[in-house]
Amino acid sequence: MTELAQDKMTTLREFMAEVAQREYSESYLIAVLHKAQELFGYLPREVMDVVAEGLEIPTAHIWGVATFYHYFNLEPIGRHVVSVCMGTACYVKGANRVLDALKRELAVEVGQTTDDRLFTLQEARCLGACGIAPVIMIDDKIYGELDSEKVIEIIRQHRRL
Ligand code: FES
Repeated sequence: MTELAQDKMTTLREFMAEVAQREYSESYLIAVLHKAQELFGYLPREVMDVVAEGLEIPTAHIWGVATFYHYFNLEPIGRHVVSVCMGTACYVKGANRVLDALKRELAVEVGQTTDDRLFTLQEARCLGACGIAPVIMIDDKIYGELDSEKVIEIIRQHRRL
């Protein structure tokens, strides 16, 4: 483990030690997983084991929780997270064509990360911008009124960042 990863593990252990003193510490599992993901970017196996040990909860239970909530990433994610809205308004305006263009351009399926770790492709349900459907979000920025060409241009701009 690198020195940086050890520092993060120490921070996580300190957070769990604080949580363990509270009543019903098991109910803080989600908060601990959030903290772990904030520190590591995703939830690697060894981090799950440390959480299991720290909260005295079986690892299998922690895996169950982590896989139930889509928010948690079990694999490393890319520098940019591309979320394609597949909500009704976006779907009827061609979200599937936008998604297909992204899959081709990035050479990944939904839920996967590009080999260069630049992009992770995800699906979303209504990003709250139906008026400019179809919509994607890259990191925390919304892009609307898209078609296959526009979305590829946006991805190429991000490659140059
Ligand atoms: S359905 Fe896509 S933003 Fe609402």
